[in-house]
Amino acid sequence: MWGHMRLNLPCVDERELAEVAKVLATGYFTQGPKVAEFEKLVADFTQTEFAFATSSCTTALHLSLAALGIEPGDEVLVADFTFPASANVIVQQKAVPVLVDIDLETFTIDIDDLRAKITPHSKAIMPVHTFGCSADMDPIMQLAEEHGLAVVEDAACAIGTTYKGRYCGNLGTLGCFSFHPRKVITTGEGGMITTNDRDLAERIQLLRSHGGVRTGYWFEYEAAGFNYRLSDILGALGVVQMAKLPWIIERKRTLAGQLQERLAGIPGIRAPQEPAWGGHIYQSFVILVDEQLDRDQLISDLRDQDIETTLGTYALHDQPYFQENYGYESGQLPNSHTAFKQTITLPLYPQLTEVELDMIADGVRAVLT
Ligand SMILES: Cc1ncc(COP(=O)(O)O)c(C=O)c1O
Repeated sequence: MWGHMRLNLPCVDERELAEVAKVLATGYFTQGPKVAEFEKLVADFTQTEFAFATSSCTTALHLSLAALGIEPGDEVLVADFTFPASANVIVQQKAVPVLVDIDLETFTIDIDDLRAKITPHSKAIMPVHTFGCSADMDPIMQLAEEHGLAVVEDAACAIGTTYKGRYCGNLGTLGCFSFHPRKVITTGEGGMITTNDRDLAERIQLLRSHGGVRTGYWFEYEAAGFNYRLSDILGALGVVQMAKLPWIIERKRTLAGQLQERLAGIPGIRAPQEPAWGGHIYQSFVILVDEQLDRDQLISDLRDQDIETTLGTYALHDQPYFQENYGYESGQLPNSHTAFKQTITLPLYPQLTEVELDMIADGVRAVLT
């Protein structure tokens, strides 16, 4: 017999404990040397020039838009099928989130819909590297260049994801990562911004910590900034987690392949696949189920077999806030609507055994055949 199978399990052990204990012993808990070490590791890994740790990916995204100077009335084009944080930060800048449909093969932003929604008010594009699969960045960057737009990669799920061999976070103007426990590596809560733009890097540093610039012992406040810093206690977690990242990615890709094989031939579902541009890290392993099948019932049936699953993510245009404030109607972005209603995230984490992979596939097969 086996116990309840969780959706995700972070890879933490005595190494994280030891590093956190060292920080606790120093008595220095706010942003400090461990955060700097973590930032250097992420910059080196993604091959970007600058990396700035933040308290979450949500604050990383908000800080990015603030650093870009996104203002009231500006339009930011964002993938509709995403966690609401992607668009909430646009609203927090009093800018307008323009929701763009997705492609159902990769669950990432649809290029034709994106092109159609660019207006003279557009200031930035926020593609989302959904579930660890890169958006199709070449045409996005081309549109951005043609229209003078910034590109903020929502790479919350995509540390280590590549696009044609280049790391996400190093493709747009700025990239934002999440270290929430559902993500590939975790610091409990935490985020990171990567960029190769020196001016933006300076602005991010200023705004991350109250807008203050050190002048001798004190600060001068040049902007009304935020406190979006990461604690050194969490920075220590990040340093250890970064050392595990290559192994975690390799293991997730291997397990994803094994789960794809086991699910092949089950009627009514489509397992996630490597996109044409490669580099999927399967942060979440999300299957699409046929429209005649009741997705919520499937989730409930799998729970009865002690397999924890959940929906893929949200269609923002189907959420009350975006309907009431921007006039969207349910189903208006058809692919995103389908993905919201018909996807299931299956468990996939490095500790899974082959026996457990069999149980997941057998569980899905049992409820569908
Ligand atoms: C695509 C996407 N963007 C942003 C976020 C927000 O990340 P955080 O929880 O680190 O603020 C998430 C988190 O689930 C996400 O999946």
